[in-house]
Amino acid sequence: MPQAKIGVIGGSGLYQMENMTDVEEIRIQTPFGDPSDVITIGKVSGVEMAFLPRHGRGHRLNPSEVPSRANIWALKSLGVEWVISVSAVGSLRQEIAPRDLVIPDQLLDRTKSRVNSFYEGGVVVHCAFAEPFCPTLSSLLLESAHELGDVKVHQGGTYVCMEGPLFSTKAESNAYRQMGMDIIGMTALPEAKLAREAELCYAVIACATDYDCWYESEESVSVEMVVGNLSANTGNAKRILQTLAQKLPADRSTQACTCERALDSAIMTDPSL
Ligand code: ADE
Repeated sequence: MPQAKIGVIGGSGLYQMENMTDVEEIRIQTPFGDPSDVITIGKVSGVEMAFLPRHGRGHRLNPSEVPSRANIWALKSLGVEWVISVSAVGSLRQEIAPRDLVIPDQLLDRTKSRVNSFYEGGVVVHCAFAEPFCPTLSSLLLESAHELGDVKVHQGGTYVCMEGPLFSTKAESNAYRQMGMDIIGMTALPEAKLAREAELCYAVIACATDYDCWYESEESVSVEMVVGNLSANTGNAKRILQTLAQKLPADRSTQACTCERALDSAIMTDPSL
C-alpha cells in the first residue's frame, strides 16, 4: 500500500488537488466501513500527500453522514501523521470577511448525533482535548499563509460546530456571538476528536464564505453564497498546503505538541481484568 505523510480532508468546494504529481487512487476498507470516497495519493512539493473529499465527489454526504471514523482510520492506515482539514465556515465577526481564512485554536461542540470516539464496547479512553487543534501544525499553517503575502488570514478563533444540515436561526447566530464564538461550521467534529484519539496532528484552514445570518446589513447565508466565495479561498488553501509540505518536520517527537502521545495515560480500562 502506498504511504503518505500528510492527509488533506477537503470540504465543500475542494474535491481534488490539481497540483499533485505521481497520482494514484486507492480504495480503502476500514472496520468502520468505507471512507467518504477513494483517496488520491500523490506528491505536493515533493512530499507524499493523501487527499480525501469529505463529502465525496459530487458532494453526496451531508455533514451528519460523513463517515469520520472510516476517514480518520483510512488516513492513519496510510501512515499519515499530519491531517489538514479545509472547511467552509460562516463568520460571526465583522472583521472576518467572506474570503478571509482563519486558523482556529478552539472548538465548541454543538453537534447532536455523531459518533465521537473509536473506543466503545469495553474499552474506555479519555484523551486530553483542552487544545483541540494541533498547535504545531496550526502555527506552520499560519506561517505558510503569511509567506504567500497576499492572503488575509486570522490567527486563532473559536469554531462552533453545529449539526446542520440547515443553517442557524438568527437567535442561534446571535447567541453564538454573545458566547464569544468566531466562526461556525458543520464538520470539525467529530474529526478533531477522532484525530486526537488516533494520535494524529490535526488543524483546520477555515475558509470564511458568509456572515451567517446575524449581520442585519448583509444577506443571510445561502448555498449560492458559500459556493461563490469558495473558489477564491480554496485556491489559497491549496497554495498554503504547497508551502506547508516543505515545512513539516521529519520527526514529530521533536515538536512541542503532544498529539503523537495522546493515548499515554488516557486509557481507563484495566487490560488484565
Ligand atoms: N459553512 C459555511 N457557512 C456556514 C454557516 N454560516 N453555518 C454553518 N456552516 C457553514
